[in-house]
Order: sequence, then C-alpha cells, then structure tokens
Amino acid sequence: MTVALLITDTERLRHRFAETLAPALRARGLARWDAHASRLLDTLDALYGDRPDFASTVHRMVTWMAGCANDRADALRALDDARESDPDWFLAQDMIGYTAYVDRFGVDLRGVAQRVPYLQRLGIRYLHLLPFLHAREGDNDGGFAVRDYDAVEPSLGTDDDLDALTARLRDAGISLCADLVLNHTADDHHWALAALRGNPHYRAYYHLFQDSALPDAYERDLHQVFPQTAPGNFTYVPALGWVWTTFYGYQWDLNWSNPDVFVEMALTMLRLANRGIEAFRLDSTAYLWKRLGTDCMNQPEAHAILQALRAVSDIVAPGVLLKAEAIVPARELPPYFGSGESAGRECHLAYHSTLMAALWVALSEQRGDLLADVIANTPTLPNASGWLTYLRCHDDIGWNVLRDESQGDESHAPFDLARVACFYAGDTDDSFARGRSFQSAGGDHVHGTNGMASALAGIADAQARGDADALALAEQRLLLLYAIVFATAGLPALYMGDEIALGNDEAYVDDPQRAAEGRWLHRPAMDWTTADGLDAQHDTDTTAARIDRALRRMIAVRRATSDLRGDAPMRAFDFADPALLGIARGNDFVALFNLGAQPVATTLPAELAGTRWRDLLSDDQTAADFPIVLAPYALRWLRRE
Ligand code: GLC
Repeated sequence: MTVALLITDTERLRHRFAETLAPALRARGLARWDAHASRLLDTLDALYGDRPDFASTVHRMVTWMAGCANDRADALRALDDARESDPDWFLAQDMIGYTAYVDRFGVDLRGVAQRVPYLQRLGIRYLHLLPFLHAREGDNDGGFAVRDYDAVEPSLGTDDDLDALTARLRDAGISLCADLVLNHTADDHHWALAALRGNPHYRAYYHLFQDSALPDAYERDLHQVFPQTAPGNFTYVPALGWVWTTFYGYQWDLNWSNPDVFVEMALTMLRLANRGIEAFRLDSTAYLWKRLGTDCMNQPEAHAILQALRAVSDIVAPGVLLKAEAIVPARELPPYFGSGESAGRECHLAYHSTLMAALWVALSEQRGDLLADVIANTPTLPNASGWLTYLRCHDDIGWNVLRDESQGDESHAPFDLARVACFYAGDTDDSFARGRSFQSAGGDHVHGTNGMASALAGIADAQARGDADALALAEQRLLLLYAIVFATAGLPALYMGDEIALGNDEAYVDDPQRAAEGRWLHRPAMDWTTADGLDAQHDTDTTAARIDRALRRMIAVRRATSDLRGDAPMRAFDFADPALLGIARGNDFVALFNLGAQPVATTLPAELAGTRWRDLLSDDQTAADFPIVLAPYALRWLRRE
C-alpha cells in the first residue's frame, strides 16, 4: 500500500486506465498495468505523495497514458509484443549504432531517409539522430535547447517527414533513437515564456530564486559543465530573478520536484514514441534532482524519476528503449540500470564514457593495461541491460571520469591527465594529434578535448606532412580503437564520418554562432563525395577507403559472431608488456591489441593456449601461429577452431 494512494485509489486508477483503453487493447494493457503499475505508483508516491493535488495529478496522467496506448500504431504494438518476449533484443551481435546530426548527415529528415540504404550497407541497426525537435531561435546548443517537444525543427523538415523517416527506418530494421532533453527547456519554450509573463503555474516548472542567497549556497558544491563559456549554474533574468541553468544561460533547468513536470515529460515521451521513435537518449540525467549541500548529481530522486518514466513506457510502449546519458565514472552508473527491487527496471543502456576516455589515454600513453583495468572494473549489469560503447560522439572527451584511475593502484601505474589533454591538443613533443582542449584553463586544469577520431589518431597530421609511414600508423590507430569498441560488451556506436576517417571541421570558427563553441570542431558535414565514391568503387586505395573497408569487415564479423553479442561475458587480460591488451568474449573469441608504437611478440595466457585459433579479420581466416608478433598498433580478432 502506498502512503498517499490508498488501495482503493490504486484500484480506481486501474479501473480508470482500463475503461479508457479501447476494448481490443484492454486485456494486454491491463496485463502490463498489473506488471508495472505498482512500481510507477509507489515511486511517484515517494516523490510527490505529500502534494495535496497528488491523487488528481496521477488520475489525470493515467487517463492520458491510456489515451497514448490507444493511439499507438499497429506496427509499434507489434514491436512492443516482440520486444517484451525478447527483452535482450538490443544486445544482439548485429546491433550496431550510428550517431549523426540530421543536417550534417542528410541536410534534413528527408535527406536522412534517402541515406537509409547507406546505413543498411554499413550494417547499422540503431540510429541516434542528435536533437531534431523545434529548437530555440539563435544559439541552441546544437538543438539541446528545445522550444517545442511536439514539433520537428522547421529547418530539418516537417512532422510528416519524421513520420515517414521512422516508418522507413523501421522497415529497414533500424531503430531510431532521439534525444529527450529532460533536464531543461529553452528559454523560449512556451512554459518559459509563460513563466516570464508571471504565470505562477509555469513559474513552478523552473528553479527560480528572488535573490542570490540560495544560488550562492548551492554553488558552493556544484561543478561547472562549461566553466569558460557558461560559468556558474545560475543566470539572472530580470523578470524572474535567478534561474537555475546548469548548461547555457538559455537552457532553464526544469523543476522535477513538481509532479506536473513529470507528467508533461512522461507524456511527451509517449507521444514521441507513438511517432515511431524507438529509443530515447535521456539527456543529462545526472542533474535532474537538486539537493542543497550536494553537487546535485546522481541523487536518489533522479533515479526514482527515471524508474517512473521506465514504468510509464513499460505500461504503454514496452518496445521503447531508454538510454541514460550520465557522463560519470562507470562505477557510479549501476544505479542508472535500477537497483534493489528495481534492478533492470530503469534505463536499458548507459554510455560507458570511462571506457571511451580510457581508450584515448591508452593510445597516448601506450598502455593496454589501463584498458584491462577499466574492463575488469566495469560493473556487472542486470539482465537485459547493457553499455553503449563508443569512441567519439558530438561532445568533447571529458577526462574527469578518469580522475580516480589516473591515481594508479597496485595493478597499474598512475598517469597524468593533464599530459593526455596536452597530447591530444598537439602540445607535447610526442603528439600525433590535432585536437583542441575544451573548457580548460591553464596547463593543469583538465576538462575535455575536442576533435574527430581521425584527427586525434594522427591522420590529419600525417596527411599534412605527406608522411606515408606516419599515415599508415595513424590509420592503424583509428582501426585499433574501433576494434576494441566493436569487441567489447554492449551496443557499439560509430560516430558519423569515422567510417571514412572524416577530419575536423576547422571552418566552424568562421560561423559567428558557432565560433565560441569548440565542440563544433568535430561536427563536420558528411563527405558524401568520398562516401558515395567508395560505395561505387570498392578497390580505391585511399585512407577513407582503407578505413571504410576495415571497419565494414569488423562490423560484418561482429554480426556473424555470437560470442560478440552485447551481453556475452567479457574478460580482459594483462600481459607482461603493458602496451598489450587481451579481451576474451563468450567461450571462443579472443582479441589481442598492441597499444604501443613498438612491435611485441606474445602468446596467449595459459588457459587459452593449446587450441587452434583462426584470424577472423584476415582474408582467408588463416590459423594464428603463436607467438604472434603484433606490429605497432596491430590487433587480432581470433576464434577458437
Ligand atoms: C548533453 C549533450 C550536450 C549538451 C548538454 C546540454 O550532455 O550531450 O551536447 O550540451 O547535454 O543539453
């Protein structure tokens, strides 16, 4: 029994849900209600039960939920059924992701639809399109300042274009993932405009303060996401006073302690799901709940909110997948998958940013042992949960997730994050990288690094110097890192353009709206001249062609290898030489990686030796002879015969 909702209330809610459902949906809908409603109601009760209007708010929400269930298209209902009986569907070995901005990839949503065959040929089954909902006028953080969650950004197309795209992708077996920006709205969202006009209902949607006393008190424990371009966490708005703005001043944090905010956002999610969006990247989830005296990240209530959202989708749209964007160390991520009785009942996926950042450290420091350590310390997840693994995305590489690892321990030596950041900015003697530091002041303030993977791996530098040997090594580095991503557990995602070694977009500084935001360095437009040329002609011998061929082969092998399922067990092993990394998956797959610039000869650990192994990435899958000599940055994917 809940505190504020008596058993009679929950029965009335069940009845309300049932009577609003279309008769044909009732049996299925009620079965889902019975399986998940107590989680939803208990969680909401714990969050909002002391509000006088709580019971009526929930009643309203339940009616709307049933309405959304009625509105769900047959094709989406079929997905719901299929995924309920195959809850691990997103961890199949052929689930390969791709991340892109709509305008950079296809100009608009119609253009993206035309590129579906390209994605299919690449082997993509999961497409994360960065924000495409109606964004704030002017600067909008690449669409992460949403002014209307129910409309497509006009410069990217129409609502019909979105519906056509989701249908097209679904036919192609590709799940569309969209950002659901939960933490804040744009300052020109109609809720914000109403708040500005003094409407008390909408003022309560945000965190507003008359004077700076409380903001100052909070600020003592808060971090800064953009210390240089948006210092502080509050913005003074004359008509309102101080507004909580964790990110840019025009992104107003929503007040999730208000149940109306929960209801609005839950229904927003369902309406988008009904348009065929199959997965949501829940943006900035760590920041949803504020508590004085803490850094206001990862608070228990933020998890309660996510669990309640999950219960809402489990009841109405169980085919939908929730992915947490919480860029915090991996050891802090398990709660995002749910804990205790809610284990496996929060998000399905979370970004493994510790592994992502560690890949780059391992490369600059030539230390496979660091990756073995990160993999060994990667928490075990509940069933039907997984990591989103990646090498690059639209954000900077944030180094802070590795603060603890950088101290070293009995199994590995420390490393210097400041040096790593300088390395990727091209500021050390041994650097091959052409990235740039992000939001970092002074040599020792390390925040993040921007740049496309190919530029960070040394391709741009080698090309600029016309050094063919250096170029070969740089290409090998890019492939090495992706080969680790594709060999690890989880759902691996390519970042747009990496498949053709697309370089930095140095021209962003000429655009006044982008010049101050260094992350545009790695948000170039897709080079379709190159990509289409490769698609047509398979024997081209250029960097783009070599990277493209090798990555396609890895994807094809992953798709064909059941030991590479996203949820197949993973184990990493160390070697005497710290440059080496070994990863075993399932029963019969082993991969070896040389993160160093020197060749290394190695055998397999004793427990894996003695059987014969085939080299999965070689042309004829030749047998591997041990000891193997791994050239600089070389790798092997091996399968037991
Ligand atoms: C997420 C996005 C990032 C954005 C921020 C604020 O972290 O990945 O690009 O700036 O949220 O919405």
